[in-house]
Amino acid sequence: MPSGLDAAEAVSLVLNYVTAYQMLHCSAKVRRGQRVLIHGAAGGVGSAILQLGCLAGLEMYGTCSSRGASAVSDLGGIPIDYQQLDFVKEIHRLTGEGVDAIFDGIGGTHIWRSRKALGLGGTVVAYGLTSSLRGGRLASARSGRRHRFREIRIFGLYIAGGWLLPGRKRVVPYSIQWLKRLRPAMFRQDLIALFDLLQQQKIKPLIAQQFPLAEARQAHELLGNGGVTGKIVLVPQRVVA
Ligand SMILES: NC(=O)c1ccc[n+]([C@@H]2O[C@H](COP(=O)([O-])OP(=O)(O)OC[C@H]3O[C@@H](n4cnc5c(N)ncnc54)[C@H](OP(=O)(O)O)[C@@H]3O)[C@@H](O)[C@H]2O)c1
Repeated sequence: MPSGLDAAEAVSLVLNYVTAYQMLHCSAKVRRGQRVLIHGAAGGVGSAILQLGCLAGLEMYGTCSSRGASAVSDLGGIPIDYQQLDFVKEIHRLTGEGVDAIFDGIGGTHIWRSRKALGLGGTVVAYGLTSSLRGGRLASARSGRRHRFREIRIFGLYIAGGWLLPGRKRVVPYSIQWLKRLRPAMFRQDLIALFDLLQQQKIKPLIAQQFPLAEARQAHELLGNGGVTGKIVLVPQRVVA
C-alpha cells in the first residue's frame, strides 16, 4: 500500500472498489455518455460504482431506500426509491429506451426484472445475493453450500435466457474471487490503479462506521438491519509490546 493513505479508506478499495472497477470496465465495458442503473447504490459496492462511474462520464441511476437517497444524489446518481417505485417502469419513464448496463447485487428473480430495464444490446452484470438474506443471514434453511449451488444454477438459466430471448441483452456473472484466482496480475494492476485514484483524491470511500475487531458481531448486526451507507470497517486493536 502506498504511504500516506488512510488505512480504513485503503481497505475499502480491496473488495468494493476492485469489484466496482472490474464490473464497469471488464464486464460491462462502459463508454463515456452511457446510461447505467446501479442497484443498492448507497451500499458499499454501489457507492464505489457511483464514484468510478462519475469519473468514467456515465449517466447514472441508483436504486436505494429513502435513507440512502441523499448519498446517491451527492455521488452524482439519480435515486430511485425501490420500496416505493417499480424501478423497471421508472427507468423507462426517465430514459425512454432503457439503460446500457445494470449492476445487480440483489440476485435471484431480481436479475430478470433488471433485464427488462435494459435497452437493446444492454448488459446486466449479476454479482450478489442480497435478496436471499434476512437480517444478515440466509433466509432459506439451506446450507451455504447448497444455497450457492442453487444460485449458480439460477445464474446459468439467466445467462442462457439472455442469449436465447430477443433483444440482444446479456446477463453476465461477476465474481471477484474467480477473477482474482484466474487473473491475479489483473487484480493487482486494478488495485494499484485504484490506490493512485485515492492518492490523487479522485475517489473517497464512504466509511459508515469503524468498529474495534472485538465488536465484529455488532458490525454484522448493523449491516443485517440495513440502511448502512458505504462500508463498515473493523479495526484490529493495537498490540502493545
Ligand atoms: N461477486 C462479487 O465479487 C462480489 C463482491 C462484493 C460484494 N458482493 C455482493 O454484492 C452485494 C452487495 O454488497 P455490498 O457490500 O454493497 O452490500 P451493502 O453495503 O450491504 O449494500 C447493499 C445495499 O442494497 C440495498 N438494497 C437491499 N435490497 C434492495 C433492493 N431490493 N433493491 C435495491 N437496493 C436494495 C441496501 O439498502 P437499504 O439497506 O437501505 O435497503 C444496501 O444499501 C452482496 O450480496 C455482496 O455479498 C459480491
